[in-house]
Amino acid sequence: MALREVRIQGDPVLEKKCKVVKEMTPRVRELIEDMYDTMYEENGVGLAAPQVGILKRIVVIDIGEGGITLINPEIIETDGEQTGYEGCLSLPGKSGVVTRPNYVKVRALDENMEEFELEGTELMARALCHECDHLDGHMYTELVEGELYDNEDLPMPQEEDEE
Ligand code: NI
Repeated sequence: MALREVRIQGDPVLEKKCKVVKEMTPRVRELIEDMYDTMYEENGVGLAAPQVGILKRIVVIDIGEGGITLINPEIIETDGEQTGYEGCLSLPGKSGVVTRPNYVKVRALDENMEEFELEGTELMARALCHECDHLDGHMYTELVEGELYDNEDLPMPQEEDEE
């Protein structure tokens, strides 16, 4: 198990566009393992490679249903809308209200570099959008409606989603 340092908003690495992964190598495999270790250690539901300082298009997600690795993910379909709280390991202790599609379909490569498609609704749809945004240098704070709250002072009950 190896933890990597989670980069915090303001770090320029979080504002860059990540590069496509062309082949699976021992280094990439190790990166993915470390991303899972780091995400679980920080109690996150998703983590993108730039959040640990690596500009590669790799995302790991676990909303409590098991880990999913997405390499070079592309959102190919969205539908509906959901509005709820969102947070990010790169901005600890904060949340803001963000509207996202309620349904998302992505195409990505798995750890064997084989293509697959994944559909998600609600928290999974939110996580897919949030993590894919990181790969293009975007943070959810760009989309927050109203103010960014400290997690202790959220004005609305948190029945929606958290990351
Ligand atoms: Ni994030």
